[in-house]
Amino acid sequence: MVDLKSVKLDAGAPNISLWPGNAIAHDNVRGSQWAAKSNCKSNKCLGRLWVALLEVTDLRTHLTSRRGVNRAVKGVGFKLDTGKSLGIVGESGSGKSMTALSILRLVPQPYARIVGGSIRFDGEELLEKSEREMRRIRGGSIAIILQDPIASLNPVFSIGYQIAESVRIHQRLSGEAQLAKVVESLRRVRVPSPEARVRDYPHQFSGGMRQRVVGAIAIACQPKLLIADEATTALDTTIQAQYLDLLRTLQRELNLALLFITHDFGIIARMCDDVAVMYAGRIVEYAAVREIFNRPAHPYTVALLEAVPKVDIRVDRLHAIPGAPSSGYVEHPGCPFAPRCTFAIQQCHVAPPPLTTVAPGHTAECFRAQEVYAGAHRHQDSTDASARAGA
Ligand SMILES: Nc1ncnc2c1ncn2[C@@H]1O[C@H](COP(=O)(O)OP(=O)(O)OP(=O)(O)O)[C@@H](O)[C@H]1O
Ligand code: SF4
Ligand SMILES: [Mg+2]
Repeated sequence: MVDLKSVKLDAGAPNISLWPGNAIAHDNVRGSQWAAKSNCKSNKCLGRLWVALLEVTDLRTHLTSRRGVNRAVKGVGFKLDTGKSLGIVGESGSGKSMTALSILRLVPQPYARIVGGSIRFDGEELLEKSEREMRRIRGGSIAIILQDPIASLNPVFSIGYQIAESVRIHQRLSGEAQLAKVVESLRRVRVPSPEARVRDYPHQFSGGMRQRVVGAIAIACQPKLLIADEATTALDTTIQAQYLDLLRTLQRELNLALLFITHDFGIIARMCDDVAVMYAGRIVEYAAVREIFNRPAHPYTVALLEAVPKVDIRVDRLHAIPGAPSSGYVEHPGCPFAPRCTFAIQQCHVAPPPLTTVAPGHTAECFRAQEVYAGAHRHQDSTDASARAGA
């Protein structure tokens, strides 16, 4: 392995460009010189490019039922690095959760199957791991927080026992050391008087505090990647804001990679560095958060942003995207968004749209991405969408 500190970059340094997902691609790489350009301590250097902590490539997950095959995830790819946060946003049924569950290899059995692609985490292929190895990874180096804390916690065990369970399995701690870890985890998620509360049961906590306990279980074993799937949807607005602040603080303190799944663009603006917009099992647009708010390049993203209620503009009727989301059971010869798209042209109904790079690190899967991007830029007015959403 190259010692990054000892390598100097010369004048003929390779071009370095940002790929979607924060991976850094290197052109015309010579020898090991490229390794010194980025002062990155977290990435692994393998051959020609920086390898991100999580690299999902062409992931495909199918669910089979009497209705046929539901192609819930259809070729999803992204990269996420240590200390970075990626938001996945999209309508209900677009495949956000199924993508997250595929990463953890927890798709519903026996009818769901990961049928293709690659999920590389920390330099290793998760799709090649045995179930036993995956059990060590889940709750160890990858943790997930789900929407409903009631469903995530067992009502018959104290919260201390439930946090200790993951500490015992993944870190093999017992006795005093185990208790100290449990208390520390509760303190990190700002549960008051953690020493006293370890003996309490889930029903003795408020909804917001319960979700903090779920957070304590998630971070107890110092994961590298935290997946939050609609983690704040069940909380009221004030508690939600506190919980989001807490997650942001934890991410910084623990240098976590955060995969944040939500319907809410406001939350994306607050929490994420980058955003992937999903539609019908595919990532249709990918960009940095500020870029996507100011210059969306995919008509679906434009429509989603228009559907966000604006407190400073009075309207009689809220904007909604016409039609229903595309079903994974239906195979489209063209763009799956075409039946609902106000930009659609004849070509959109017959051929799959190309992946277009409209700016460095900003891609959209659309025949008219350049026009939409340019139009969004031209019509951008003083009421900056990102400012409204808090980005
Ligand atoms: N347990 C399940 N059994 C059968 N089909 C499922 C199951 N979970 C999800 N699906 C199907 O997989 C597809 C993708 O669902 P997924 O849960 O990933 O959507 P989502 O984007 O997370 O939606 P939401 O925002 O409502 O959570 C949908 O067609 C959905 O009906
Ligand atoms: S490819 Fe065509 S139908 Fe699909 S989003 Fe772009 S313009 Fe709309
Ligand atoms: Mg979901």
